[in-house]
Amino acid sequence: TVDLLKAILNVTYAWEEPVKHLLPAVTALPGVSENMMKRAVDVKGKIHILAEGIETILNRTETEPGFDGNDYPAWTGLEDLKSSDEDTRLFTIYNLCRCLRRDTHKVDSYLKVLRCRVVFKNECF
Ligand SMILES: *[C@@H]1O[C@H](CO)[C@@H](O)[C@H](O)[C@H]1NC(C)=O
Ligand SMILES: *[C@@H]1O[C@H](CO)[C@@H](O)[C@H](O)[C@H]1NC(C)=O
Repeated sequence: TVDLLKAILNVTYAWEEPVKHLLPAVTALPGVSENMMKRAVDVKGKIHILAEGIETILNRTETEPGFDGNDYPAWTGLEDLKSSDEDTRLFTIYNLCRCLRRDTHKVDSYLKVLRCRVVFKNECF
């Protein structure tokens, strides 16, 4: 259970930085819709809330030193996201959204396993 919590926190921390930069990049897209911008703001806020929630649970369950808050996969796409070349920018945004979708599904299934273990005492398989 603690390993799952740490894995979620790992992914969540890793996304905080890219999502922060994704917002202005999406806002600057030609013909961006109100709905897209709303989604980008939403995602940023929810990732932060998720990180805080998982941290709180981990802090309550862990007695020894918990998650090393600096040890998560680093993001290296900032330069591409700010590139003057439109294709590079668009491709970077596309890739970020694709990866975000994949990681969101991953975290979602981790959370479902956790809920099953903790709330339903493993009786939901
Ligand atoms: C969890 O504990 C760490 C280390 O003590 C602390 O920095 C962090 O603010 C705590 N997080 C929450 C949400 O309580
Ligand atoms: C977070 O994930 C990365 C890559 O999967 C791994 O190298 C790193 O050790 C993990 N950090 C922690 C604290 O588990």
